[in-house]
Amino acid sequence: MTCNGNDDLGKVSPLFQKFTGMQYHDVATLEDLEPGTCLSIELDDAPGVALFNVDGEILALHNTCPHAGGPLGEGTLDGEVVECPWHGWEFNVRTGQCIENPDPEWSVPCYRTRVENGVIQVAFPPETP
Ligand code: FES
Repeated sequence: MTCNGNDDLGKVSPLFQKFTGMQYHDVATLEDLEPGTCLSIELDDAPGVALFNVDGEILALHNTCPHAGGPLGEGTLDGEVVECPWHGWEFNVRTGQCIENPDPEWSVPCYRTRVENGVIQVAFPPETP
């Protein structure tokens, strides 16, 4: 299952937004997120986001760990897996699935991303925050 990643649909952004209601928000720049690193972003008008650069591919998860609320964007990224900084649970940053507890109950929501002119954008549903 892949529900994240550089968004091909972003190339037809107006249709994507019309039929899904999703809205892209500027959250960071590529300069902020070197390959192999992650970043925690808190926004006024949208949920917190954990950003990951996996070999140049920008991926995004909800920033809150389902275990006890740790900021996943402040964790340690190893390939496609981030380790939560609080108690070490691991999550696949492409799918949001928890490695230790693969039950969907413990998965983290993932968000579509795209990069426009060096700016990382994340798509949120229209009802957010
Ligand atoms: S808060 Fe993330 S592992 Fe506990």
